[in-house]
Amino acid sequence: MTSSQQTANEFRRPGVSAGRKLIRISILFIFFAIFRSVAADLPYLDPKRPLDTRVEDLLGRLTLEEKISLLHADSKFTTAAVPRLGISRRWLDDGPHGVREDIGPDTWNPAGRTDDFATAMPAGICLAATWNPELGFKEGEAIGQEARWRGKDIMLGPGVNILRTPLCGRNFEYLGEDPFLSGVMCSGYIRGEQSMDVASCVKHFALNNQEYERGTINVEVDERALRELYLPAFKAAVQSGGVWCVMGAYNQLRHQHCCHNDYLLNKILKEEWGFQGLVMSDWGGTHDARQAAGNGLDLEMGSDKPYDQYYLAQPYVAGLKAGAFPMAGLDEKVRRNLRVMLATHVLDADRKQGSINTAAHQTVARQVAEEGIVLLKNENHILPLNANKLKTIAVIGQNATRLHAHGGDSSGIKAFYEIPPLQGLVNRVGANVNIVFSEGYRKNGGADLAERAVAAARTADVVIYIGGLNHDKGLDCEGADRKDMKLPCGQDALIQRIIAANPMTVVVLEGTMVEMDAWLAKVPALLQAWYPGIEGGNALARVLFGDVNPSGKLPATFPKKLADSPAHALGDYPGRNGTVTYAEGLLVGYRWFDAKSIEPQFPFGYGLSYTTFKYSNLKLRAANSTNLVATAQFEVENTGTAFGAEVAQLYVHEKNPRLMRPERELKGFQKVLLKPGESKTVTIPLEAAAFAFYDDRQKTWVVEKNTFTIGVGSSSRDLPLTADFQTAKTIVLK
Ligand code: BGC
Repeated sequence: MTSSQQTANEFRRPGVSAGRKLIRISILFIFFAIFRSVAADLPYLDPKRPLDTRVEDLLGRLTLEEKISLLHADSKFTTAAVPRLGISRRWLDDGPHGVREDIGPDTWNPAGRTDDFATAMPAGICLAATWNPELGFKEGEAIGQEARWRGKDIMLGPGVNILRTPLCGRNFEYLGEDPFLSGVMCSGYIRGEQSMDVASCVKHFALNNQEYERGTINVEVDERALRELYLPAFKAAVQSGGVWCVMGAYNQLRHQHCCHNDYLLNKILKEEWGFQGLVMSDWGGTHDARQAAGNGLDLEMGSDKPYDQYYLAQPYVAGLKAGAFPMAGLDEKVRRNLRVMLATHVLDADRKQGSINTAAHQTVARQVAEEGIVLLKNENHILPLNANKLKTIAVIGQNATRLHAHGGDSSGIKAFYEIPPLQGLVNRVGANVNIVFSEGYRKNGGADLAERAVAAARTADVVIYIGGLNHDKGLDCEGADRKDMKLPCGQDALIQRIIAANPMTVVVLEGTMVEMDAWLAKVPALLQAWYPGIEGGNALARVLFGDVNPSGKLPATFPKKLADSPAHALGDYPGRNGTVTYAEGLLVGYRWFDAKSIEPQFPFGYGLSYTTFKYSNLKLRAANSTNLVATAQFEVENTGTAFGAEVAQLYVHEKNPRLMRPERELKGFQKVLLKPGESKTVTIPLEAAAFAFYDDRQKTWVVEKNTFTIGVGSSSRDLPLTADFQTAKTIVLK
């Protein structure tokens, strides 16, 4: 056996085939039984003891070298084992859309396994568009099950960086522009994933809002925008999701890299928010031994050095031995690593084993896509289509057949299978309808492609155009931002020609937001399908033919043109001389469009249905428990003829605030399922945080004694119900 084979074998992860899994479980049981009886007095092995007792006991048994080995990688995605104490190698993996194929051990090349196919969930932005935290839980749970089956301990997701510019190459991975929506959705996901004995790792903390110069760019942001926009989703991940790991961002905040940023990690995350888990670096995001030692980093991954030369390896040991770094700091880092390990039951015999590529996981993927697809336009009810009335459908556009799940870089998945839209449509309509496919456009494609597509459009009863973006570098892909917000490959012109040839054209766009002015007015129907995952084609077909009534809502404003969005209107994207200043402050996304009265193409929270909903009877009641300030109660009625789900949204506006506040901010929502004619009462609790702003002079959150207007409705720009609420007194929050 060559040494490289030896290495590869050492890196065979546990638990991948059913047979091997059974053997592994039996061995584990025997091992634990023997280990227990021999070492009945080893508290760290006793699952009945309190977590911290176990942690402290284990910590006390580790040598200096063993402690250090837990603080840095020993391959691309693992940390070393401590066999003497029964600690196996820890396996990390991306995240956030499923369990990534195995890499390395020491390169970015695939490990070449045949057992690492997984369920590719829809992209994060599609999950956010469902506005359904229960689906977030289900998705997290399914990914957690697959992670366990693949022997993973920590999953690198979800990603919750706020969409500041439409151009950010990773917007598709994240949960949109609103901190409240991102916080609620990521908490559900984390709770689901961690319920499977695997730790989630929320990323990238913080302000990784562009890919351009991501490893070096210094972000200057005012304290209020930091606290009110860029941090709340992380805070929710910690305090409501109970996340066990946080990944630092590549960029700098106020001239200190985020992976060892004292303010972010020590002061805010650990001291203020009480985070008990571990902070890991992004891959290659560590730059300095002193800062790594003292500024809150607990696990260093992906540095471009031999593993023993990582900042938290030999340089750290040297500093500890020289007395430059305190031993207590070392113990604190190790303690956090051990806490995550023990909390996810890595040393317990009954740790959950998971499952992979199950029908249940595929159903979750389909549900997320079905609920995340957003119907943006539907003139004259051209949708849903009726297969019985159609003879020929022209399906046009490269995305009709293009697979996306593997793309986008670190979030890509080696999908067990992937149903692209064309296949989904064929599955749905069967042999009764003739489907003609024409690619229409392609990178560097010739004019003949468009000619053929237009000819196909002309003879069809209906055209379903499936275009948009893809994961090519420079589009929706990690490592670079988009250059503009336009559709690539001449699609604007192509869509116009298709509509001219056949006005019965439904446009479906995959990917993130693009400019649409060239053709939108002429198109009768438009759907935003994001990257809808392994079951995306089936989900899309079910929406188009009305088996599913669309209920997705935009998790980000779609501007008419790039220059309308704040980072571009103020001209400070992508920064100058290595620094980007967030000059728009609090006015990100709809907050900007509202403040400047700019008409967006489609507003935040927008999305149509095949039925209609009526809102009525808003009542606000003061509550007297400590955190709950009020409850909002109102009725939503399905006034149409189809079963449907409505995302009822609640926005808060403060009248004449002491400090500037956005016109309105999302502070509550609920997805309501309604039969035709049915009416339901929706109750949304409003905690103090719903009324609070960050007072940067007092350095705390404050709810003022004042009048607040509560707006309720179906999008940030459609709030038929409003009522005023008076807070009883000024409250200072922690
Ligand atoms: C990305 C992270 C990812 C890590 C490991 C980095 O380049 O920014 O999101 O988890 O690689 O693949």
